[in-house]
Amino acid sequence: MAEEAILGFLQNNEDIADSGQFAAEHNLNHDELVNVVKSLQAFRYIETQDIIRKTCVLTDEGKKYAAEGSPEVQLFLAVPAEGSISIDELERKLDPSVFKIGRLRAAKHKWVQMGKQVSRKVQHVEDDVKNLLLQTQEGMELDEASFNSLKTRSLIESKEWKGYSIKKGPNYAPKRKKFATDLTRENLQTWKELQFKEYNFNAKGQPLEAGHLHPLLKVRKQLKDIFRQMGFEEMPTNNFVESSFWNFDALFQPQQHPARDSHDTFFLKAPSTTRELPEDYVERVKQVHESGGYGSRGYKYDWKREEANKNLLRTHTTAVSSRMLYALAKKPFTPKKYFSIDRVFRNEAVDRTHLAEFHQIEGLICDRGLTLGDLIGVLHDFFSRLGMSKLRFKPAYNPYTEPSMEIFGYHEGLGKWVEVGNSGIFRPEMLLPMGLPEDCRVIAWGVSLERPTMILYEIDNIRDLFGHKVDLDLIKRNAICRIGVE
Ligand code: PHE
Repeated sequence: MAEEAILGFLQNNEDIADSGQFAAEHNLNHDELVNVVKSLQAFRYIETQDIIRKTCVLTDEGKKYAAEGSPEVQLFLAVPAEGSISIDELERKLDPSVFKIGRLRAAKHKWVQMGKQVSRKVQHVEDDVKNLLLQTQEGMELDEASFNSLKTRSLIESKEWKGYSIKKGPNYAPKRKKFATDLTRENLQTWKELQFKEYNFNAKGQPLEAGHLHPLLKVRKQLKDIFRQMGFEEMPTNNFVESSFWNFDALFQPQQHPARDSHDTFFLKAPSTTRELPEDYVERVKQVHESGGYGSRGYKYDWKREEANKNLLRTHTTAVSSRMLYALAKKPFTPKKYFSIDRVFRNEAVDRTHLAEFHQIEGLICDRGLTLGDLIGVLHDFFSRLGMSKLRFKPAYNPYTEPSMEIFGYHEGLGKWVEVGNSGIFRPEMLLPMGLPEDCRVIAWGVSLERPTMILYEIDNIRDLFGHKVDLDLIKRNAICRIGVE
């Protein structure tokens, strides 16, 4: 083995002058020897100095002539010693390329008389080319003229050979010590006799065979932290199935509203209707839809209980907000800040920006005397914590809020304004039937979780983020979420 040979040799000798020679003498492959040299050097068993030599190797054509003779000599030998041979016959006897090259060179050397008939001019020739090629093959050096002549005929090419001279290094030992690499029980018990391998702090860790959080979950965690830092409590969102009543009616959304169509909403077949609703509150909701009250004229239509009973997959988390506000109204009034982040469902055609199920982030503040200014202020606070401090608002319409505002944020990374959410002040037609005090105002906003996640993780097709086409490797590799850090 190369390692034993090197270390053993250095035990009794000053140095190894030339790794090439050493390999030849010890019948070792030089490339393998070089690998061992590099490893021994890294552990400072040995010190080395480079030896670079220009060497020659034969080309394929060169190898052929080294074996069969140069074309000029092959041609010469094909011409009879006495008399002559016709050029056509000579051509037939020889390889086409040998004939072509050989006739020119043999004529130039004046070895043969070329014509229709070919005859010898001398009786004996030396195959210098073949001899030089054989010498090269054996590793002998060529003089400059020979080197140049073979090179111009493309019979040899020069190559750089790299080897080493080797001597003992500071850690030299006749045998390589095995380093202990692991902190096993055995290694710890015998640590005094062992030599531990040094730590490589630049080495990459083993990839963990563990579960990995989906980007949506990472962003959700960050958002939850932001809400909690702002004093918000999380609402329970563990009911994907909701009745139309809480999803729409309680929110003063009229029963003929297009969003309540099966083209936009997934209705449940079984159980198709809800079992119970708070009857006195249902009655007040019916009243406010049909004929108003609390200063409103209502929608003036026949409100149908069957419509309100229909079960659906909630189309927004505002359904949860309506349940929470109703529960709040039943107790002596206390101001609240609530948030939720969970899944909602819409019967939509799926494309690169839309899914039939996605996640909503919702925040609301319920207190006496809140104004639009409070809403704008809290939105600035919330979005600047997400890294968006420039906001713009556009008047919008929601059945349950008045006024309503679409929220646009200037995305520094993308260099443009992007729509980030929807907001408003809940209408009295929604809050007063619940029984909240008259001067109580609820300001609220909703944002999709997918949009900020796609921006943060630079994903431009929502199907790469969520659903069956997601690449699991991407989930394993993607970075931790750092909201608001540029
Ligand atoms: N529910 C609205 C939506 O689905 C968002 C919203 C929440 C708007 C709260 C106003 C107030 O887009």
